[in-house]
Amino acid sequence: MMTSSLQSWPEPIVRVQALSESGIARIPERYVKPPSERPSPVPNFTPRDHDHTHDSINIPVIDLAGIMSSGDGSTLLLERISYVCREWGFFQVVNHGVSVELMGAAREVWREFFGLPVEVKQEYANNPSTYEGYGSRIGVERGATLDWCDYFFLHYLPRSVRNPSKWPALPLSCRELISEYGKEVTELCKRLLSLLSRSLGLEGDHLERAFEGGEELGACLRANFYPKCPQPDLALGLSAHSDPGSMTILLPDPHVAGLQVRQGEHWVTVKPIPNAFIVNLGDQMQVVTNAIYRSVEHRVIVNSAKERVSLAFFYNPKIDLLIQPAKELVTEDRPALYSPMTYEEYRTYIRTKGPRGKSQLESLIRLPTKKLTQ
Ligand code: OGA
Ligand code: NI
Repeated sequence: MMTSSLQSWPEPIVRVQALSESGIARIPERYVKPPSERPSPVPNFTPRDHDHTHDSINIPVIDLAGIMSSGDGSTLLLERISYVCREWGFFQVVNHGVSVELMGAAREVWREFFGLPVEVKQEYANNPSTYEGYGSRIGVERGATLDWCDYFFLHYLPRSVRNPSKWPALPLSCRELISEYGKEVTELCKRLLSLLSRSLGLEGDHLERAFEGGEELGACLRANFYPKCPQPDLALGLSAHSDPGSMTILLPDPHVAGLQVRQGEHWVTVKPIPNAFIVNLGDQMQVVTNAIYRSVEHRVIVNSAKERVSLAFFYNPKIDLLIQPAKELVTEDRPALYSPMTYEEYRTYIRTKGPRGKSQLESLIRLPTKKLTQ
């Protein structure tokens, strides 16, 4: 059910790009994060960083070259996936099968879109009832601290909600590129879900069935635009959050770092590998796997020298299906940690409150009955 608070934004929308281009030296109070959330200064990233093997830690890499040729994952690959998902929940994937030209074209067409005059983009201004279109905030709480980001959000699947007339008509190739990109990335998602299933000792189609129930599941694209920020130490491009859905395939900006992944008390800055995707598990994956695999908190930092574009492709459960821990992953020692819930119900939290770390999933955990009776 849609609450009335989700019909419109609580305050007039300000485009971050317009603020940035106005040449202000100080950011408005609304974008200043409390000291505990501010990023610590990060050394400037340059693509040459890849040359330094002694470099600081980066998220792990998974190479799908084997399955792209044989269509099957070796035991070694499944073990690697299991390790990476348990320890990190975040990885870069190479030899993933998506055309490198298409990746570049999709990213650049969105960069061009954000470069169009503001009147053109305003035609797609979104509202919180669907979030579809051109937006500048997530969450509807009056007085909230905002993130230094504009975005465009659209539905790709299921087909019944796909509506290309809501996608940008300009640049002229935009709609076609979204369709092609969505198709190839969806295929990658299916390959990854099958590997994840098998890495958990489940049938290859287990996760897909758990998330779609025999019909089309959901997929959305959010193109993020992080303008230059005159005071990057005070702001965030995207506050700490975990993605609410099943799995996210992120195409980062190859020239500008910004994504940070939480590792305990630290934030690891991801150094994008050329032509790789960054994959992270979402909250619904944590629910279905009964927290054997976990969603991981991440955030985005901004900088004063360069703007940044990223494409986040969210693979989500069918909206009205009850999502719950897989029976095979529930044991006496490890009882079901979550009660069944639909994704439609689940996503209301972030849509209302905005990004808030992993607070939603943590609040839903069921205490094991043993503990309750002690
Ligand atoms: C997101 C996200 C990261 C990035 O859109 O959910 O985490 O690098 N984006 O833009
Ligand atoms: Ni995210």
